[in-house]
Amino acid sequence: MKIEPSITVRSILYQRPRSVAIFEAVSGSIFWHHLDANLSSFAQVVGSAVPDLVRRLGELKPAATGQDWGARPLYDLIDHLREDHEDFRGRHLPIIEQAFHAPALGHLEPSHPLALAGRDFQSFTQDFLWHMKEEEDFIFPKLLRIDSCFRHPELYTEIQKGNVGLYPNALIHSPEQHFKHFLAELRDSLRNHAVEENLAKETYEIREGLETFELRLLSHVFLETDRLFPTGIRLEKEVARKMRMRMV
Ligand SMILES: [Fe+2]
Ligand SMILES: [Fe+2]
Repeated sequence: MKIEPSITVRSILYQRPRSVAIFEAVSGSIFWHHLDANLSSFAQVVGSAVPDLVRRLGELKPAATGQDWGARPLYDLIDHLREDHEDFRGRHLPIIEQAFHAPALGHLEPSHPLALAGRDFQSFTQDFLWHMKEEEDFIFPKLLRIDSCFRHPELYTEIQKGNVGLYPNALIHSPEQHFKHFLAELRDSLRNHAVEENLAKETYEIREGLETFELRLLSHVFLETDRLFPTGIRLEKEVARKMRMRMV
């Protein structure tokens, strides 16, 4: 990731969630109070050398895949999920989109199964892009902060800005189920459709793009619904319990 001294702490956390490790190493939980400061001013506040901080953050690699996520800090898992999103947006979705726009498919009847599948895929893409943005704008930052609160009891959780435990279950789980089912149905409908000889190559490319994406999405959805959200909700309850104990 290209890091400039003018980039804000918030933007670095947004793009590379595991930068929490470096921010905590140089400031404890202080960085949470300087999210809109750029790196130059933040480094001054915490007494770090700007070039050193820029270098360390720039050298930070995405969290490696295939880890035992239960044994890793939550920011590594969030970083990995964030990286998945980048890959969905930058690679998987465009490959499928391009396959649906192959020149040979340009003159299909609107009722042709491939034309119908292309339109369905377009509306799926819009919903899916919106869903990823929602996670990146609200749930991921919220969980990063809760995770940090767990290590730094002096930090408050910003309950006034929303509570992950109260975040409607429907909003957390049902989009994931919807995306999974949509892809499975689309895959089956394309499999069941008899391939026309003159469109065999195009049909194969669409199917292959969809199947590769589906596999990756299934593991992403599993990590979110079975690892990230339950861990986040557990940490949130634990942090709230500790706060109550300090108040009595
Ligand atoms: Fe996601
Ligand atoms: Fe999701």
